[in-house]
Order: sequence, then C-alpha cells, then structure tokens
Amino acid sequence: MTQARSPIRSFEEFREYSLWYLHDVGLNVPDLLENEYKIVLGPVRGETIPFGDYAGTPKWKAPSEFPKGEWNGRDIHQILSNLANIQGDTEFGSNEQQVGLWDSAPSDYDRKILMSVIKEEFRHGWQMGWFATETLKTDHAFLTAKTLLERRSGRGANARLLGAFNNPITDWIGMYCFLEFMDRDGGSQLSLLQDSSVMALSRSMTFMLREEAKHLRSGQQGFERMLAAGKLPVDLLQKYVNLFAPLGYDLHGGERSTNALIYYKLGLKGFYPAQRGQDYTGERARDYIDPHLYEDLLHREANSAAYSYQFLDLRLGGALRDINKELLNAVTVTFYKRTLEKHFADFNRIIETAYPAGTPKMVLPSIRWHRAEPSTYAHERYDIHGAPIATEREYEAYRLANLPGPADAERLQEVFATKDWIAPPEADVYKELTHTKPGDDVFFRTVFGTKRRSRYTKRLPDAAGGAAPDPAASAAEAAPAKAAPAENLWSFMDREAGA
Ligand SMILES: [Fe+2]
Ligand SMILES: [Fe+2]
Repeated sequence: MTQARSPIRSFEEFREYSLWYLHDVGLNVPDLLENEYKIVLGPVRGETIPFGDYAGTPKWKAPSEFPKGEWNGRDIHQILSNLANIQGDTEFGSNEQQVGLWDSAPSDYDRKILMSVIKEEFRHGWQMGWFATETLKTDHAFLTAKTLLERRSGRGANARLLGAFNNPITDWIGMYCFLEFMDRDGGSQLSLLQDSSVMALSRSMTFMLREEAKHLRSGQQGFERMLAAGKLPVDLLQKYVNLFAPLGYDLHGGERSTNALIYYKLGLKGFYPAQRGQDYTGERARDYIDPHLYEDLLHREANSAAYSYQFLDLRLGGALRDINKELLNAVTVTFYKRTLEKHFADFNRIIETAYPAGTPKMVLPSIRWHRAEPSTYAHERYDIHGAPIATEREYEAYRLANLPGPADAERLQEVFATKDWIAPPEADVYKELTHTKPGDDVFFRTVFGTKRRSRYTKRLPDAAGGAAPDPAASAAEAAPAKAAPAENLWSFMDREAGA
C-alpha cells in the first residue's frame, strides 16, 4: 500500500498541529490554553529488560538497538507505532467525549476534576505523539502522530479507533463510570508498559501513571460521593455499572491474545506488576485468574472443537509463570477486577449508612456478562452474576431490564434537578496538579496562550472549517481497518495481526 507522506515530521510540528486540534474540538478555553504542557521522562525501575525473549539484556535506548525480524508479519517499528496509535487515540478521544460535560458539572469541584483530567489526557496524547515523532521517526509513525490529532470521537469514517471512545458521555454518572472503569484499564496498560523493553516508553509511563492515579481516584471517589448523598436510586447506578464494567473488561483485550504473546516475547508488556518487588508468578495460576474465567478456560481447552478459538495447551494447572503467554490479558483483567471488587465492598458499606435498610447492594458484574469481541465470551448469554441465560429472547429482555434506557433518563432528570445528588468530597484529589520530581527529564514546555493561532490552520485548508484535513488520505492509511461502533480495545490490533 502506498502511504501518504505526513507533513508532521517532528514533535515541533506535532505541537503546532495540536494547537489547531485544541481550537478544532472546542478545547480552546483559557484554562487549557494557559496551562503548561510538557513531555516528561521519569526514572525507571531497571535498566535491563525483565521478561520475554530479551530478558536480562539492556533496554533499547534507540531504534537502532531494536531487534530485527517480523512478528505476525510486522516489524517492531510497526508494532510500536500501532501501540502509540491506539494509546494516543484513547487519550485524545476521551477529551472529545468529555468536553460536553463542562456546563452540567454538579459543582465547581467536579468541574475542576473534568478540566484536570482533560489537561492530563491531552498531555498523554502529546507523550504518544512525542514517542512517534521523536523516537520511532518512521513514515508510519509520523502518519500516526498526524492522525492522532485528526480522528474525532464518534465521527463516522474518521472516528476514534476503539468503540469505547466513540460513545458520547452525556452525564456525570457516565463521567465517573468512565473514570472508574475505562480509565482504570488505561492504568492497567500503562502499568504493563512501565517495564517495557523500549526505554522511551518505559520512561514515559512514570509520570503518566502519577497523573493517571488521580483520574482513577476521582472515579472511585465519584461513586463514593454519589452513594453518600443517598439520592440516586441504587438500581439506576447498577444499570450504569452493568454497562461500563464489561466495556472495561473488554478494553483489556481477548483473554487469549496472540498480541499479548508478541508483546511478552518482545518485552513490551508482561505480567501485571501489581506486587512491587514481590514476584507472584511462581504462585498457582488458578489463584491469579478470575474464578469464572479460570473455570471457563479449562472447559474451553477440554472442548476446543466447540469454540471458535483454539484453547489448546493453556498450561493452567501449575505455576502462573508457566502459563501460555497468550493468556496474559486474563491475568491483567483479573487484577483490574479485584481492585474493583474492593471498591464495591466499600460502596456497599456506604449504601448501608446512606440508604434505607433493605436497599439492595451493588453488584460488580461477572466477567462473563455482556462481553464483546475479542473476548472469548462474545456472543454468549449470561446474566450479571455469570449464570447462563437459555434463549436469545430471555437474554434480550434481561438486557433491556438491566441496562440504562429512556425511562431511566427521565428518572435521572429528576435526580439531577435536586443539585445535592452528589456529596461534597472528603478530600480534594486535585489539590495540586501532578508535579515533576527530581530525576524527571522535562522537554518541550509549552504554554500556547489564548492569542496564538496554529500555522496549520492556514496551511491545511480544511482545518478551519472543523473537518479534519484530508481524513481519507491520513486516517485511512494509518488505520486501514476502520473501527466499527462496537469495537473494543486491542481488537483493532488483533485484527491487524490476523489473530
Ligand atoms: Fe491517559
Ligand atoms: Fe486517565
């Protein structure tokens, strides 16, 4: 395929283009334009690659040190630029999903959370643009950087790559669900990349994770505050949870994924680093994979003919470190779910004090419920507890009754009108924005200011009109497989890799 040459060939140009982006998506408000953005490379835990085929050798500091070869038909440059493409796409995409919430913020505190999250996600998008333009520097990477700023959440052929980043977030329950469930997957992915074999990625994660921790805390706190106020019907919040939890599971990728295996081999992503300084990989595999998932993986392996994936040779019987590395997403999603289980125990304690006795508790849905491709559970019918539902008809009725619908929107308008439907915070998560620390290297410090206009507004004629410049030649090239609305994280990669 012939590839359009990107006019964005350095971070300087990406930075200039990102000013056009801020104006184009309506993020050209003083608070954002006067904020300082920077590229930060933090210290890393180790200089050597901790896992995979290159374990024990020094992390790669420049592309000239990358291994040569092909993995599922792609070289490491392409694998990395796709990774930057997807990671960066989610950062900018979430900004576009959240921008409409400004006016409906229930309090100044919530508005401050929104603005802080947008600032930091924009910076994360920058960090990926920097990685593409200043580390990778291939034609594919330059095009990736350009399209990161040209795709738009929910915009047809020019949409963001993953379905979860194309659904508009229309209210503040959705916002806190997004931070608690979707952003938390972002946290999982960044955690995996912090030990990456590629030094620039590994060093990028240090500061990103410091920022991300506040997004996640804001989401958890949002739930605590909504429940503490005691106004929001718990059954209604449960419906939001039923919608968002499986999207969060899906974002972790297929439970069996050849990409996970390739990432492991290349040392890009490995076992989830949940227990610092403590190697849990020698423990029993069955203790680190969600019980429903563990049971189902064993069943599928034993009955592989009945399933579309080949569940062979999973090596689940022994130590975690010996499992088939195609199952690494199953381990990561388990850590994610266990964190949420702890939060839900706290949420239910709040319900006991803030709601009348007998109010039903909240349920964190089973990993089986309402899953989409590339999950092994896609197209299967379960309820939120993980019990099978016999017929398509029963399942449709169950889905309608347990996901947010038009009648709920009306009930919500009444709740939102009460104003005190969400309690004030006990502590301010954003008392300060995230600071750099000694040991961090900081580049490209930028305050755009409200007066400055991007030179790309003139150079790319369509830009001023709001449409992305030349989307057909750019988005289509960097993302040849256009996202379908229901697509989920890594399915783009899985499909590209022919998995
Ligand atoms: Fe982010
Ligand atoms: Fe985030």
